[in-house]
Amino acid sequence: MCGILGCISDGDVVPILLNGMKRLEYRGYDSWGLAVVQDKIRSIKNIGKISEGEMNLSKLKGSIGIAHTRWATHGCVTRENAHPHTSCRKEIAIVHNGIIENYQEIKRSLLAEGHKFTSQTDSEVIAHLLEKYYHEFKDIKKVLLVTVKKIKGNFAFLAIFQEDPNMIVGARKDSPLVIGIGKNSFFLASDVLSFIEHTDKVIFLDNLEAVIAKKGSLRIFDFKGREVKKRITQVAWEAYDVSKKEFTHYTLKEIYEQSSTLKNSLYQDPMKLNKFCKSIKAAKKLFITASGTSFHAGLLARYMFSKISKVYCEAVLASESNQIMDWVDKDTVILAISQSGETADVLDAVRKAKEKGAKILSIVNVIGSTLDRESDLVLYLNCGPEIGVAATKSFTAQLALIYLLAFTMANEVISISKLKRLNDYIDFILKQKDKIVKIAEKYKDSNDFYFIGRSVHYPIALEGALKLKELSYIHAEGMAAGELKHGTLALIDDRTPVVVLNPKDQTYHETLSNALEMKARGAKIIGVSDLNNEVYDDLIILPQIDELFFPIIEVIPLQMLAYYIAINRGADVDKPRNLAKSVTVK
Ligand code: F6R
Repeated sequence: MCGILGCISDGDVVPILLNGMKRLEYRGYDSWGLAVVQDKIRSIKNIGKISEGEMNLSKLKGSIGIAHTRWATHGCVTRENAHPHTSCRKEIAIVHNGIIENYQEIKRSLLAEGHKFTSQTDSEVIAHLLEKYYHEFKDIKKVLLVTVKKIKGNFAFLAIFQEDPNMIVGARKDSPLVIGIGKNSFFLASDVLSFIEHTDKVIFLDNLEAVIAKKGSLRIFDFKGREVKKRITQVAWEAYDVSKKEFTHYTLKEIYEQSSTLKNSLYQDPMKLNKFCKSIKAAKKLFITASGTSFHAGLLARYMFSKISKVYCEAVLASESNQIMDWVDKDTVILAISQSGETADVLDAVRKAKEKGAKILSIVNVIGSTLDRESDLVLYLNCGPEIGVAATKSFTAQLALIYLLAFTMANEVISISKLKRLNDYIDFILKQKDKIVKIAEKYKDSNDFYFIGRSVHYPIALEGALKLKELSYIHAEGMAAGELKHGTLALIDDRTPVVVLNPKDQTYHETLSNALEMKARGAKIIGVSDLNNEVYDDLIILPQIDELFFPIIEVIPLQMLAYYIAINRGADVDKPRNLAKSVTVK
């Protein structure tokens, strides 16, 4: 799970690569590097974040280069394991995103042939394979085709060659690779974000396709060697606004953006929306699948579809989707939810289901992502790039779109118009910033946190706990409030803050009783409700809205709480440790 970028241009590509990699850091940020072809291949590598690298790049110049930002999977975080990796004679350099599953076997045979390896990574085998075949065949297309045939797993890689200093080659299988077409320049990258200020004209490589880019020419062919004609897509510049504006972190900016992103997620082409709804309703079996935060949205979708649209479905974690595969057939619809559209577990679940004849419907944010391209029908979240590693605005956009689907299927026109005005209430929460900052200061040193809620609030409790864990590194658990008495109450004492999601709806009285049970054991109760009660040590007030809409609004103070606790603890909120934005490994 890494970011790769290559550039061919008339001028020096080093500043372009450096800037582009900063944009790709959301994909991995434990080490980075770049290589250019000057008279020979010159590269530079560093561990840590790009912004932290006090590196003198002034000596590195070139009009062709490749770069990489890493999230370690095979081999620890060291300079040696950072990309680019080079062949034995350093005549070829590669960057790779993905996992080469059969690298040990390939490495063994290359070692036996005399190749020398300098890293513990799986990726390095690509450089050596290219070297081997380059010397054998000389024909670069053939070299690429035999290399991709040899490697198993998922990959997007780029390579440069000392002997052919005007060329970058690349290939993809199950990891993204897009090509930006600029004026006298090409960009080859994991994500459009990395080059959007240079061009908005993009070719999305499909799975099992390879590219040979030279100054002034581009050849794309599939893994069988057949040349393919690709469409150039013009992407919307404004959709790729990647500045932090006045905010100290992307995460905070994205939390504050939610009133507009919520609205944007509801702008859907009515024909497409209806087609989507029709497919859901026509399904004999409907499974929702997703990971992490998107799975929490999936849990709420299950509730909404069942209660509002009277559509029965199951929600299954993508990483556990094997549990349902025996039941998947041509009468099944899989609804996959993913911000990035690149999560390996989700793609794996979708592909297995597709093989069994299921129809794939997706809700994604990243246009052109693998999930987008492999689905039968797609609805976009339209919430712009989410740079902060923790999902915030994409979650509320997912919820809004799920509500829209549920109401559309139930033909609830009045509820749809209420949903479209919901963004007006987000300011009500944001204005409580000072109060949330104080709560964050009060509980910042806690070791454990609990989040409880019933029914529609349960997925939000899970999401609140996940946000706190990943941003602040405090242990947190989200629980169905009714489950406390079945064991967890044993852990509650006077050092335990508990966030109680308890707006005045049909869950109110029972959840209040659970809060009292915990208070009796000394817990500090942080209420999130539209109604005060003496049980709360602290209260974040919710606006008076229709009860069905509380989940979409009540998650925002939880995101803010996690953010400010993390700030108080000095954590790097935009790039939490051990995480990456797109989890492209299984
Ligand atoms: C949490 C978070 C992750 C993602 C998960 C799925 O803040 O960001 O849990 O939600 O990795 O990612 P997508 O939605 O891109 O499939």
